[in-house]
Amino acid sequence: MTNETIFPAGFLWGGAIAASQAEGGYDADGRGLSTSDMVPYVNKRDYTDLSSQMSPSSEKIARAMAHASAKGYPKRYGIDFYGRYKEDIALFAELGFKTFRMSISWSRIFPNGDEMQPNEAGLRYYDSVFDELNKYGIEPLVTMSHYDMPIHLALEYGGWKNRKVIDLFVRYAETLLTRYAGKVKYWLTFNEINTTIIEPYTGGGLIMDRESRPREASYQAVHHQFIASALATKAARAIDPNVRVGCMLARMIHYPATSSPEDVLAAQFENQLNLLHTDVQVRGAYPPIAKRYFAENNINLVMERGDEEILRQHTVDFISFSYYTSLVAAADPSRYGVTGGNLYSTIKNPNLPVTQWGWHLDPVGLRTALKDMYDRYQVPLFIVENGLGAKDHPEADGSIHDDYRIDYMRQHIRQIGEAVLDGVDVMGYTVWGVIDIVSASTSEMSKRYGLIYVDQDDEGGGTLNRSRKKSFDWYKNVIATNGAEL
Ligand code: BG6
Repeated sequence: MTNETIFPAGFLWGGAIAASQAEGGYDADGRGLSTSDMVPYVNKRDYTDLSSQMSPSSEKIARAMAHASAKGYPKRYGIDFYGRYKEDIALFAELGFKTFRMSISWSRIFPNGDEMQPNEAGLRYYDSVFDELNKYGIEPLVTMSHYDMPIHLALEYGGWKNRKVIDLFVRYAETLLTRYAGKVKYWLTFNEINTTIIEPYTGGGLIMDRESRPREASYQAVHHQFIASALATKAARAIDPNVRVGCMLARMIHYPATSSPEDVLAAQFENQLNLLHTDVQVRGAYPPIAKRYFAENNINLVMERGDEEILRQHTVDFISFSYYTSLVAAADPSRYGVTGGNLYSTIKNPNLPVTQWGWHLDPVGLRTALKDMYDRYQVPLFIVENGLGAKDHPEADGSIHDDYRIDYMRQHIRQIGEAVLDGVDVMGYTVWGVIDIVSASTSEMSKRYGLIYVDQDDEGGGTLNRSRKKSFDWYKNVIATNGAEL
């Protein structure tokens, strides 16, 4: 297929990971414990109930706090990106990456989150990572908060529900923006900000057995994140006018289960709730639908005078989002069977196959998502997560023929090309989990997204050696031809 004219020059091809799933080194160089360090690996799991695995109770957190080793807590050891970043970045350079999306571990910089001074060793580590990327001409795309925060802020402040956390985050953001000015051009404030509603511990540091009004607490938490994000955006522009700041949404596109008007309305409503977050961060205000939704669900948001102004003034430059799967909504969901999904399960769509983890495979949905977001906002869009979680089976010689992953990427990238032809301004594409990492939802290692294999099993055994899968060479060629050869 020749489509060299489809992807614009300067299209940001790359890959993505997150600190809590890759770095390890949970207690190295003064790092404090984080919310993700509290999530144990459980061998028995229900893939339609991810929340119970991602969100530990107070009791489990107390047990985890007393557990002074990484064993049994995969996000504490990750894949040792902390120690092996040079080797890994060399592989990204070999892939021809234009950009690499990563996150900074907040508790590496402010171990408890509320110190006045940052931890110099933590700052130095990211200096080295950015310098290494720079050596190969790879532009860092950096998320300030990706599913982790200092556990102290969750335990002592109640997480993002507490307005005081805004100031602590802004101090953290200003520290990063100042230190890395000139080194980092693209910043994202919060990964999948809507996760704070769907999975409030992971997204917002809320310990749910302490919350008597969970939905209200979650919306209060995300409101504080909106303000923090806007203030960080303001600071970014003041510190370095060349930076570009984006929001990040887990795009949960919903289809109606049938063409009945009631089902269509149910799907529209789910889409409105999903896009509420981008409405705030891009348009600068809550959408009209929020008023009735909050009233009917007893969500009494506490807003301070000046909040609306802050949101209106400091909107983002671009929208980044993850897309893995599509969902289905119905007026009466009880009539349907369910399947797994990114962050929550959904009605099974009879038109779509599913992955080994039950997520619908729907490349066309990515084009739909791109088109509907661009119609709504007309700001540049960046797909910063998309990929296939699958079990890989190394051959006797160690090679991995992951044609299923190539197929997944090829189909999704094709749809991005179609969206570009539809007139959508797409900045780039970073494949999720370019190197195998610990799964966010299940803490498994065997749910692999990488084009680079990491020899490590679910219990943490293995050499940690890296090797190239078949998809590695395939993607390298996609990048070299700017998407002309898929
Ligand atoms: C996204 C997260 O929701 O999905 C990532 O931003 C995560 O952190 C990715 O890894 C895939 O989910 P999982 O649970 O399969 O790792």
